[in-house]
Amino acid sequence: MKGVLICGGTGSRLRPLTEIVNKSLLPVYDKPLIVYPLQILLNAGIRDIAVITGPEHMDQMAAFLGSGYRFNCEFAFKVQDKPGGIAQALGMAEEFAAGESVCAILGDNVFFDDISPAIAEFKSGAHIFLKEVPDPERFGVAEVLPDGQTVVSLEEKPVRPKSNLAATGCYLYDNRCFELIRNLAPSARGELEITDLSALYLREGSLKASILKEEWIDAGTFESLFRAAELVRNQRSNA
Ligand code: DAU
Repeated sequence: MKGVLICGGTGSRLRPLTEIVNKSLLPVYDKPLIVYPLQILLNAGIRDIAVITGPEHMDQMAAFLGSGYRFNCEFAFKVQDKPGGIAQALGMAEEFAAGESVCAILGDNVFFDDISPAIAEFKSGAHIFLKEVPDPERFGVAEVLPDGQTVVSLEEKPVRPKSNLAATGCYLYDNRCFELIRNLAPSARGELEITDLSALYLREGSLKASILKEEWIDAGTFESLFRAAELVRNQRSNA
């Protein structure tokens, strides 16, 4: 399995912090944000990782991550010319994936569960990780059967969410995802949506889910970025 760290986009909700610095390089307590999702990939034993970012941030991203030597992995850098959606960003890694399955993880997501075993066990189809949240309308929202694993519906930022389970920013796909991305149509906001990609697996009955127990943060706002730092600090002082 290969890893894909998705770190493009404009980070507009975090301006002026993101006027110059890529969102994923902002500090979360004692490390840049990107180190947290990167660590998830490393813990799952993934050593080949593509980093996708916009042209304006490629230099700072490569300056921080380097070849991967420091992290005991190897990075490949891919430019997403314009932020055309998370699924488009993942599509940039097709050649890099070279027929293997992928773990795509958003560069602004901080997980406190150990999801690495689920990543390492993945075989085929698609797998998403869900978390109960008070404000599901901000996210992709999944409805699941009582087994907590079988997804029955999935919608991106619904006005009337069918559940309070948010789809977090970690996605496992078999290599067919790249062909499926090529056939995706842009959403109303003009993006190739990752939720639409997962929904294609749902339609063929091969989308599985697991529900997280610990906190999970999408650090895309001032409040959530601050909360992420607080949680990391608590974790360090309890360790
Ligand atoms: O964090 C989980 C949520 O992430 C999911 O619940 C949603 O289904 C999913 O669409 C996404 O929602 P966001 O509104 O948080 O997406 P955002 O535009 O903030 O982008 C998330 C990350 O992906 C961010 O670090 C930037 C990167 N990105 C985004 C776009 C649109 C790219 O690399 N390229 C892009 O074109």
